[in-house]
Amino acid sequence: MSTPLKVAVAGLGNVGVGVVKILEQHKELIKERAGREIQIAAVSARSKTQDRGIDLSPYAWVDNAADMADIDDVDIVIELIGGEDGIAYTLSQNTLKNVKSLVTANKAMVAHHGAVLADLAQNNGVALRYEAAVAGGIPIIKAIGEGLAANELTQVYGIMNGTTNYMLTHMESRGLSYDEILDEVTELGYLEADPALDLDGIDAAHKLAILSSVAFGTKTDFKNVYIEGIRKIAGIDIDNAKEFGFRIKLLGMTKYENGTLSQRVHPVMIDRNLPIASVMDGFNALVVDGDYIDRTFYQGRGAGEGPTASAVVADLIDIARGHTGAAFYKPASTLVDAEPVSINQRKGEYYIRILANDETGVMADITSALKASGVSIDQMKQKPAEVQGKVYVAIATHETTETALRDAINRINELSVVLEPTMSIRIEKL
Ligand SMILES: NC(=O)c1ccc[n+]([C@@H]2O[C@H](COP(=O)([O-])OP(=O)(O)OC[C@H]3O[C@@H](n4cnc5c(N)ncnc54)[C@H](OP(=O)(O)O)[C@@H]3O)[C@@H](O)[C@H]2O)c1
Repeated sequence: MSTPLKVAVAGLGNVGVGVVKILEQHKELIKERAGREIQIAAVSARSKTQDRGIDLSPYAWVDNAADMADIDDVDIVIELIGGEDGIAYTLSQNTLKNVKSLVTANKAMVAHHGAVLADLAQNNGVALRYEAAVAGGIPIIKAIGEGLAANELTQVYGIMNGTTNYMLTHMESRGLSYDEILDEVTELGYLEADPALDLDGIDAAHKLAILSSVAFGTKTDFKNVYIEGIRKIAGIDIDNAKEFGFRIKLLGMTKYENGTLSQRVHPVMIDRNLPIASVMDGFNALVVDGDYIDRTFYQGRGAGEGPTASAVVADLIDIARGHTGAAFYKPASTLVDAEPVSINQRKGEYYIRILANDETGVMADITSALKASGVSIDQMKQKPAEVQGKVYVAIATHETTETALRDAINRINELSVVLEPTMSIRIEKL
């Protein structure tokens, strides 16, 4: 057997501790599969004294994680600190510059700086691996970059944030309000330290930006991902979706066509009978379409200590086996700048929910506003609101354009009978 591969673990939180545990507990199995032993040479975090439930005494402690890029006999630095910039990014760049491979779970950093890091890795002849950054328990980066490499891929979409999927699941199955389920996930510790990352769709958008690059060979382009989260979803929408034959999911969707890239994260109403509509709780799921494979579907746990650490260690094994190819599966210098597709170019169906005074002529006013914008109605329902004298009007439209829909909503909001800004959800035919 060859010499051991020496790794430095920067960050000992959920994922870092998980990585140390797997490397210890599956030491022999990993050695067999990797063809060489993977040894932890050094560890680092902010607090040296914190009890992390594991014995760290066998490993050298490094006070400043940034110094890990300079340790001579370390082959791979595993960055598990997080944050798109700051110490994580400095450490990552210096690691690659110092001709060491980098394994990271940091989706924010790869989404923002993927192209720069890929370039550094290539120029220094080392590997950059980030399987754990996207849907941890599902090996989607390798599935796309290796398993489906013979295909021209047309689109990738999926449930990329487990916490919001859990929230939507339990709003439907237990009839909880948005605020009730938000309290529950807060108590369960499911939310990111900055809840906006989950609730506003940013976490899913980070993953989507990475998947676009892997699937289409484009430069990671986070700033052009259209992002909406789930804060606007109310119990009434969950009920209406069911009555219209849909289910609400927060999806990330990326599509590449003739040099243009459409990247979107927002709530959607989808056919309740689609396989992805049945993916519940904290699970993630991904669909990848390609010309020779038609459609593939992947499901698994997207986050948590075990699944994320499993992906990190798979990357280590990959590098130990000598797989040090391009980070995005093509030379970094050939990653292209795609032309972003604006959300305003979307065509499709929409759900809208209006709160109005329950008085004669309301429905006529609303339908006239829609007609004036050229939007036609497929299904319409009226329900009494919680407060007496007010009604919810729910509408599923026929196919229209985003701009026509926005125009219709502006007209509806101007009606004197309408009591709050009208909300809409895109209906996706997947
Ligand atoms: N948790 C998941 O399920 C999951 C899933 C996919 C990807 N990820 C990604 O994996 C990364 C780590 O996530 P996590 O959940 O393990 O985070 P975490 O539990 O917050 O752990 C972060 C670790 O980084 C250390 N750290 C923070 N600032 C530091 C600094 N300036 N110098 C040295 N160490 C520093 C912390 O030290 P102390 O412990 O001493 O404070 C902690 O050990 C993030 O990029 C995250 O997005 C996480």
